[in-house]
Amino acid sequence: MKLKSYLAAIALLAIPGGAVISSPATAQEEMEKSLYERLGGYAGVSAVVDEFAGRLFHDPKIAQFFAGMGDDTRASFKQKNKNLVCAATGGPCKIISRNADVVHGGLGITSADFDVVAGHLKDVLVEFNVPEAEQDELFAIILSLKPAIVDRPDEKKLSKDAPADR
Ligand code: HEM
Repeated sequence: MKLKSYLAAIALLAIPGGAVISSPATAQEEMEKSLYERLGGYAGVSAVVDEFAGRLFHDPKIAQFFAGMGDDTRASFKQKNKNLVCAATGGPCKIISRNADVVHGGLGITSADFDVVAGHLKDVLVEFNVPEAEQDELFAIILSLKPAIVDRPDEKKLSKDAPADR
């Protein structure tokens, strides 16, 4: 439950005269909600993805991957990510994107690139006051996609593993 609605539920209990109109959800009830619901439903997912995607497009460290995407393609990228997050967290959306390995294959994404993207997601979740438990659950889903997305070894690893005479 969002902090604001939690406080509103508490406030209802404190109505003068002692009338109990509503009670806050118990921890058990809260745990039974899908991650999608705990992220604030579609509005919550949509706001997080909009902010996250905007940061990806403007980060010079990874901008080369998104260069050449026009406004319509960027809007479609956001929508596909909203549907993916919504569906993967137990929401009622349909996945409208292609498989992660098909989409990212050949882009030459390194583990370091992936970490930059994951870092932006983390920052946005923190700024949107998403509790740590929900952040961790979402990250478990996102990290499970990493092997399908990363298709180039890190430069550091390459140079470390490269023969000395090269
Ligand atoms: C962190 C986990 C990631 C998720 C959940 C994710 C998700 C997606 C989705 C849903 C699409 C749209 C697929 C479609 O058009 O059918 C997409 C496309 C794309 N992603 Fe990712 N992505 C992730 C990581 C990355 C990373 C690390 C990069 C590069 C730094 C990246 C770069 C791109 C690019 C360039 C496209 C457009 C590809 C194209 O249309 O040809 N993604 N991603």
